[in-house]
Amino acid sequence: MNELLLAWYGQNGRDLPWRNTSDPYAILVSEVMLQQTQVDRVIPRWRAWLERWPSPDALAAASAGEVIVAWQGLGYNRRAISLHRAAQHVAAHGWPDDLTELPGVGPYTAAAVGNFAFGRDVLPVDTNVRRVQERTGSNFDGSCAQALFDLGATVCLARIPRCGECPLAAACPSRGQRYEPLRKQSAFEGSFRQRRAVALRAVAAGDQPSDSDALVSLARDGLVVLDGDRASLPA
Ligand code: ADE
Repeated sequence: MNELLLAWYGQNGRDLPWRNTSDPYAILVSEVMLQQTQVDRVIPRWRAWLERWPSPDALAAASAGEVIVAWQGLGYNRRAISLHRAAQHVAAHGWPDDLTELPGVGPYTAAAVGNFAFGRDVLPVDTNVRRVQERTGSNFDGSCAQALFDLGATVCLARIPRCGECPLAAACPSRGQRYEPLRKQSAFEGSFRQRRAVALRAVAAGDQPSDSDALVSLARDGLVVLDGDRASLPA
């Protein structure tokens, strides 16, 4: 199925800015942002990030506080801290062979950077890619990664796949199936995650939030520093 998929991608692939670079740092930034944030929202933030901090050295030299503020709105702020620490690791030691040695880099992100930046034949398997693998029963190689992201995002949709538009339909054992609604992502509204976000935004704005549970949790992740009752961004 690899050839059918790649031919489809040649015609239908999305032109995403991180697909025009093989700079490992630029790709790492894109993949960390894309872990939990949608493509359309990531594009302008990725561009702005690379303009401000174009290299691991540049990001490593920033303060954690600046990095946290620049991440605001992308969500899951711990990713900002991990990315900053990863840049410091690379600035000091270069890129490790085993990319999972970098903070915040698990098997998925290591495979993505290994493939797109270092040309390794490894397949980064996220939920979209896994869905296409499971439905088709096919073993795709690393060259199919970007095509699988796009097929999963635009054709092989979770609930009602568009099999009529799919280049793999003729050979797909799941062709025409419908699927139950997925579990909804747990509500952000009213969650502890939201309380953390509100508290962090307040600290970034120079205020002192009263939600001490949220502050303690943020401090544990290195997102704020507590001095008695006073919270500030890390230096
Ligand atoms: N999701 C995760 N990585 C991606 C990429 N490189 N392009 C599009 N969507 C993605």
